[in-house]
Formats: sequence, structure tokens, C-alpha cells
Amino acid sequence: MPHEEDADIRFFTGFCGVFETPSDRRVELDLGCGSGSYTSALCGLFPESRILAADVMLGRLRKVVRRCRRGHFDNVTVLRVEARYLISRLLPDRSVDRIHLLCPDPWPKGRHRGHRLLTSDFTSQLHRVLRDGGVFHFSSDDEYYRDAVGRVLASSGLFSPCDEAVADLAGIASDFEKRWLEEGKTVPHRAWRKLPLPPPGPGH
Ligand SMILES: C[S@@+](CC[C@H](N)C(=O)[O-])C[C@H]1O[C@@H](n2cnc3c(N)ncnc32)[C@H](O)[C@@H]1O
Repeated sequence: MPHEEDADIRFFTGFCGVFETPSDRRVELDLGCGSGSYTSALCGLFPESRILAADVMLGRLRKVVRRCRRGHFDNVTVLRVEARYLISRLLPDRSVDRIHLLCPDPWPKGRHRGHRLLTSDFTSQLHRVLRDGGVFHFSSDDEYYRDAVGRVLASSGLFSPCDEAVADLAGIASDFEKRWLEEGKTVPHRAWRKLPLPPPGPGH
């Protein structure tokens, strides 16, 4: 049965080339946006910015579309795409101001860690797509994942901690954050700012 919301979802299947973002506006990416309450909050807070909402789950993306329509937001682009593919292949260099990865699936079992999004490889791609001074924003109720992310980013030498860079978003909770808070969990938010690339060493 066709869903009329699909008219407002960009589908990426097969090779699609580069996905250009507007160069004259700030761009915020809600990566793994789920059902989109965070996306719609970003749309409302930053009407002059382009808000990208990306997820693999079509049912959730349809909810994002419905929410954004209810809010009459015309500054959102909803993308059905795998996150690694978006970050490593589709987005051009220096194309996004802030990337929000909120309550990503923690994959706590050792044998499933490879499914986690935040790895050292992914970190260098985040660095590539962020604009100069851009910000990576992360939240999780899972302290092991949080610690691992902190270690990966610190050892990359590509980012410096900068929680103030998301101070304007304090008090906005994503759908999963609300769920974890109701269960009495804590969901700390952390942010890192992109550093300039270090000078190439021998052999680079
Ligand atoms: C735990 S939910 C969090 C959703 C939302 N960020 C929130 O905080 O409410 C994780 C979301 O990431 C999406 N996701 C997981 N792996 C993904 C991937 N590799 N690429 C794109 N989306 C992914 C899932 O479909 C799901 O909607």
C-alpha cells in the first residue's frame, strides 16, 4: 500500500553521487533520527538552517515527515540512508555544521561491537564532512559506549571536547532519551569541536 509521506523522503538506493548541502546556510544533521522529535525541535529552533534527518527505518522516517508537516517546517530534508554510507560517501567535505548522534544503538555485547557507528574509521569521516569549527554531539545512556566514544575521539587527535557547543540545545530530549529518563536512567550529552588537520607526517 503506498504511503503518501514517501513523497517527502529522499531514497538512496545504489550509487547516488554526492549529496550537496546548502553552502549559504547552517546545516544540522540528526543522524539516526528515529521518529524525529529532536529533528522537529531543531527545525523549530533554527528556521534559517537546513536540518537533515537520516535513518534506515522507513516507518520512523514517515513519522518524522508527519511531525514536521504538523509543525509547518520547510527547512527539513528527510533521508532514508545508512549512516556510514551517508557520512563516508554521500556528504561532501566540509558540508555540515553539527552532527547529532543521539542515543544510538549501543550494541553492548562484545561480539556485536562492530555494529556500533562510532569507530575510529567513522571518526575521520565525521571530521571530513564537518565544516571548520563544526561540532559532533553525542548522547547515550550506556556508559561503556560513552567512554569508548570519548577514547576514540581523544585518540584521533581530530576533535577537542567542547560541551558548550551544544549548550543551546540543553533541555531538548530525543524520543529515546525521554524513554530512558522515564526509566530513571541518565543520558549525558557530550560534544567535541573539529580541530584543524595535523600536518602530514612522513609517509603521508
Ligand atoms: C535507539 S534509536 C535512537 C533514535 C533517536 N536518535 C532518538 O534518540 O530518539 C537508533 C536509531 O538509529 C537508527 N539506525 C541504527 N543504525 C543505523 C545506521 N547504520 N544508519 C542509519 N540509521 C541507523 C535506527 O533505525 C534507530 O531509529
